[in-house]
Amino acid sequence: MILVTGATGQVGGEVVQALVRAGQPARALVRRPTELPVEQAVGDLDDPASVAPALDGVRGVFLLPGYRDMPGLLAEMRRAGVERVVLLSSLAAVATDTRNAISEFMIRSETAVRGSGLAWTFLRPNAFMSNALRWLPQLLAGDTVRDAFGDVPIASVDPYDIAAVAVRALLDAGHEERVHLLSGPERHLPAQRLAILAEVLDRDLRFHALTDEEARADMTGRMPQEYIDAFFAFYVDGTIDESLIHPTVENVTGSAPRTFRQWALAHRDAFAPSPDGGSG
Ligand SMILES: NC(=O)c1ccc[n+]([C@@H]2O[C@H](COP(=O)([O-])OP(=O)(O)OC[C@H]3O[C@@H](n4cnc5c(N)ncnc54)[C@H](OP(=O)(O)O)[C@@H]3O)[C@@H](O)[C@H]2O)c1
Repeated sequence: MILVTGATGQVGGEVVQALVRAGQPARALVRRPTELPVEQAVGDLDDPASVAPALDGVRGVFLLPGYRDMPGLLAEMRRAGVERVVLLSSLAAVATDTRNAISEFMIRSETAVRGSGLAWTFLRPNAFMSNALRWLPQLLAGDTVRDAFGDVPIASVDPYDIAAVAVRALLDAGHEERVHLLSGPERHLPAQRLAILAEVLDRDLRFHALTDEEARADMTGRMPQEYIDAFFAFYVDGTIDESLIHPTVENVTGSAPRTFRQWALAHRDAFAPSPDGGSG
């Protein structure tokens, strides 16, 4: 049995689907019961004791980072007899400046998993292709997308491919104590991603790059100041480089990673307005 955390999210949702396709027994940890193709157990990752019942009979865990008591969560897993953990980390973990709030929680999570005594694999993906869904409110309101860091190229990765690697690391030997750097097959500027999306949606869309001052103002209120500073360190000061293309997805899964066009085609419906005025 594999326990999938974040099962209603972008990556965990794909991990659930991939385990179902593989015919592998899986359980989703959810805060509220919902519709999923696998059994569910209710628990809150910020409260390790609440996760204990979900761990019954579990051999491997797909784990999201950054919860309040990561060592406590890992202790519950060890007590339950879990053998291996695949942690969704990020490139932020390589930036050693723990004053950076995102690096801090990634490093804290990796440290807890490393110290747990369980077999571990870390996934350090570049930014997700699914971040384009954050453009949805602007795309429902008009044809212009205003966004930050317009001059930063990123080889973004499809959560589908992150999940495919996670499943191999959960089910196969040979991924223990390994760090998998994950990217898609191409690097794009945000305007290039929007141009691909425009073709797929058959719309005439324009990208407007925010200045750094505009970007800070835009992000304020949507996330804590410390996260805004963290993103500026990554993308303006250049403390991480997500433009690098890694061969990992193909090496691990045997399939080439998906392009942004493939992601956009697979998620085209999410960008279509629904009759009630929301997204489709
Ligand atoms: N976006 C990127 O470009 C990027 C890049 C590298 C790494 N990451 C990391 O990836 C992670 C996000 O992955 P994602 O995009 O797949 O997630 P997501 O779509 O944002 O969904 C978050 C998931 O976590 C669950 N969750 C949140 N708090 C929880 C709690 N206290 N207890 C149990 N479950 C909880 C949510 O469940 P509910 O349905 O209950 O809300 C949901 O299933 C973050 O840690 C982020 O730092 C992101």
